[in-house]
Amino acid sequence: MSTPSVHDVAKSAGVSVGTVSNVLNHPHKVSPATVKRVQKAIEALGFVRNDAARQLRVGHSQTIGLVVLDVRNPFFTDIARGAEDKAAEGGLTVTLGNSDESSEREAKYLDLFEQQRVFGVLISPYGDISARLDSMRKRGIPSVLVDRESPNSTFSSVSVDDIVGGRLAAQHLLDIGRRRIAFVGGPMAIRQVSDRLAGAQSAADEVPNAQIDVIELDALTVIAGRDAGAMILARAPHERPDAIFAANDLVAMGVLQALLMSSDGGPSVRVPEDIALIGYDDIDFASAAVVPLSSISQPSAQMGQTAVELLLNEAADPSADRRKVVFSPKLVVRESTAPRL
Ligand code: RIB
Repeated sequence: MSTPSVHDVAKSAGVSVGTVSNVLNHPHKVSPATVKRVQKAIEALGFVRNDAARQLRVGHSQTIGLVVLDVRNPFFTDIARGAEDKAAEGGLTVTLGNSDESSEREAKYLDLFEQQRVFGVLISPYGDISARLDSMRKRGIPSVLVDRESPNSTFSSVSVDDIVGGRLAAQHLLDIGRRRIAFVGGPMAIRQVSDRLAGAQSAADEVPNAQIDVIELDALTVIAGRDAGAMILARAPHERPDAIFAANDLVAMGVLQALLMSSDGGPSVRVPEDIALIGYDDIDFASAAVVPLSSISQPSAQMGQTAVELLLNEAADPSADRRKVVFSPKLVVRESTAPRL
């Protein structure tokens, strides 16, 4: 028995070949009832489309390329999941890559996605890749920035205002009476980190005797946070901060571990009594920490979904204006910043 063709599917479903093609490539352009009827014919006939041949005809695959900084961070895992769920509604899939905060790795993924003629790119940029993304768009591959605004709105973007978020975190620590705040995060080349510090500094500048000391990290990981926490614990009590703002929850979890569980059996400190602690992202582990972590929440899954919607809009009408969607961060207060009784 010969392999069923797209013509056989069209005949069986009582629609045109073009409608079958739209169901396969742009299902959002077809009524749900027709999509269902065509999919039923595909299943009944056992039709399997030839992706390579299709790609040659329509010029791109049905895959979206997503590049994040580090998928080990649940913030980006949630973004990827939100993107995948929205992509699936449009008959698309998502391929994920980590730049690991390396411009070289970032460029290699963009090369790969361009060779694969992906439907489009979602990227949380590390380096300045505007020129690269612009040339890809000229070759028919649109991009949406994730977790970063686009300078002069060259690209659609979805992000959270990290300056507002950093200010919220520091203001909360100031409101519970802390004045010697350590900002633990880095590298500062990551815009999200430097914006959070800028927001925190703006809040501290408005309060007499408040100060922010920066402990810069070379990575936003639990281990880097733990090392910073051990360094703080090694200081004389009067030289330690009375509050710590960690640039994200992974760093905060590491700091918390070091502060509470001194490795050599030496002194530890009480959180929040001696040192209050707040993170950023409000990942699931934050609320489950041994001292539930206060944090600044970002709607990560919604950011992923919105990024795909912006990409579908641009693919449907490349001439449409770029859109900038900015979500507001929210303070989530838990035990790690409870006021002193
Ligand atoms: O990747 C750096 C940080 O920026 C993440 O923790 C998340 O907060 C993102 O916004």
